Formats: sequence, C-alpha cells, structure tokens
Amino acid sequence: MLMYKRMVKRISLVILLAAVVAHKEVLSVKRKAEYKILNTILERWSPRTMSGEPLSQDELMSLFEAARWAPSSYNNQPWRYVYAEKDSAAWATFFNFLVSQNQGWCKNAGALIVVISKDTFDFNGEPSRTHSFDTGASWENLSIQGNAMGLVVHAMQGFDYDRVKKELNVPDGYTVEAMIAVGKPAKGGDLEALQEMEEITQRKPLSEIVFKETFDG
Ligand SMILES: Cc1cc2nc3c(=O)[nH]c(=O)nc-3n(C[C@H](O)[C@H](O)[C@H](O)COP(=O)(O)O)c2cc1C
Repeated sequence: MLMYKRMVKRISLVILLAAVVAHKEVLSVKRKAEYKILNTILERWSPRTMSGEPLSQDELMSLFEAARWAPSSYNNQPWRYVYAEKDSAAWATFFNFLVSQNQGWCKNAGALIVVISKDTFDFNGEPSRTHSFDTGASWENLSIQGNAMGLVVHAMQGFDYDRVKKELNVPDGYTVEAMIAVGKPAKGGDLEALQEMEEITQRKPLSEIVFKETFDG
C-alpha cells in the first residue's frame, strides 16, 4: 500500500513537472524581451486553468514570505493578506466576492487571497503616498515566487470591493487593492486544452513607456 502511494505520488510529480516545463517552453517561444532580463520575470504569467488540488501550508506560506520581503517607503510594509483555502468554511464567502466570469475559473483554485494596504505610516500616522505602490511590489514578489514554484497565481480586480471591506471587517484606513487566485496547474490530459485556452500576453514596446528627460506619453 505504501509502495503504491509512493508510486502515485511520483507519477503525479512527473506530470506536474511536465506541465510546468511545457508552460515555460510556450512562454519562452512566445515572449521576446527587447533587452536581456531574468527568465523568472519573463516567464511569470497569469494562467487560469487549475486542478482543484489544495496547496500545502508550506506552499501558501512561501508565497506570503516572498510578499513580505518587498521594499516599501519607510519600510512601512503596508501590505496585508487575508486568505481562504478551498475546503474551508470561509471559501464560499471569498468565492462569492468574485464576478461570475472570475468564478468560472476560480472554482479550481486552491486558495483565494484578498490584498489590502494600510493607508498611513505606522511611525507618525500620516498618509502614505505610496501604500498601493508598495503593496503592488509585494504582490509581484508573491506572483514571481508562485510562478517559480510551478503554481498558478492570478490577480483579479473583478470582485465586489465594498462587500470585501464589510464582510472581512477591513477597518477604515485600509484599502482593498485586489484579490489573487492561487492553485496547482491543470495537468495530464488538460494540458493541451490549457495551452490553447490560455492567453500569453505581450507588452507595449519600451518606446511607449520610457521617456528621456521629459514626459512624452
Ligand atoms: C491588479 C490586477 C487585476 C486583474 N484582474 C483580473 C480579473 O479580474 N480577471 C482576470 O481574468 N484577470 C485579471 N488580471 C490578469 C491580467 O489580465 C493579466 O495580468 C494581464 O493580462 C497580463 O498577463 P500576464 O499576467 O499573464 O503577464 C488582473 C491582473 C492584475 C495585476
């Protein structure tokens, strides 16, 4: 029985790795950077097809650990994360925040996360101009970490912000920024469908977003 369990675990791992490698191959063919950058950045993306499997506590906490190490103005670390796991009592509450389009693919997520930021500095209570900017950096860390671990990480703005604030008791002085779906990628037979279904996005050219000496947008 133990041997059988080990074999199943090993086969699952191989299938999972195949899925991850296939993602990366598709990404590296379809995305071309104008200048040399880290593959970890180029290969981060937001797929939607997940297997419905749960994430381990270690996997989840690694995501938040990565988020924790982002830089922020005055090292204020304004980011806050509230999450619900798929099989928990809170799942339905989080899932019902989402617009139906996002519910369609999030039903197979392992966890849903709400991203919140504190509007003021801890040290003097004054408003922080950069709390959302800082929290954006933190979410990107989480995303890069999750992608590197072979997980699906997908941010969302398609949800009811007011309901989140009310139902999760988010106090005044905190801003609800976004939600994130995380999960294990779909695997095995779903892989081909996944590659056809998922969108591999491109980016504006550098010339449209970088200006020398004066704004020229
Ligand atoms: C703050 C934020 C909100 C987003 N909201 C949604 C959403 O509600 N639904 C969705 O399917 N994708 C959503 N996305 C995913 C974006 O469409 C995606 O990141 C973008 O097209 C770039 O693709 P990539 O992440 O694969 O590089 C969101 C992304 C971000 C960063």
